[in-house]
Amino acid sequence: MKILVGSDHAGFELKEDIKLYLQELGHEVIDYGTHSSEMMDYPDVAFPLARDVVGRVGEKGILCCGTGVGICIAANKVRGVRAANCHDTFSARSSREHNDANILTLGGRVIGKGLARDIVKIWVESQFLGGRYQRRLVKVEDYENR
Ligand code: RB5
Repeated sequence: MKILVGSDHAGFELKEDIKLYLQELGHEVIDYGTHSSEMMDYPDVAFPLARDVVGRVGEKGILCCGTGVGICIAANKVRGVRAANCHDTFSARSSREHNDANILTLGGRVIGKGLARDIVKIWVESQFLGGRYQRRLVKVEDYENR
């Protein structure tokens, strides 16, 4: 699977580890930066990556900031994005199965690399269940398109 990854400075170290892990799992990774721990603003990474997930440059995206919150809020401003900030494996699986999340966000100041790797693997491998979950997403999309 082709997966787009990005972060701000506070998520940089976690993003680098996730990038390695995804490659170990056999995925193709495109890195949208940032490329160091120098301070930068998360919207500058969130918007280009989010647009490219919607545009199908990659199938999914993973974004990291300090908490995962700011970069999640920013990504969700892009029409068609369903970004989910998940710091446990149950939410990660549910965000795929129930919400068809197309971007996962994580906080580099919240969780360690081990848990982040478990979350990433479950999130990437879980499938949307459709059915009644699809009906709810259609309502969200309808609102977004008003
Ligand atoms: C940066 O200091 C921090 O505010 C940012 O990474 C993120 O946590 C915002 O939600």
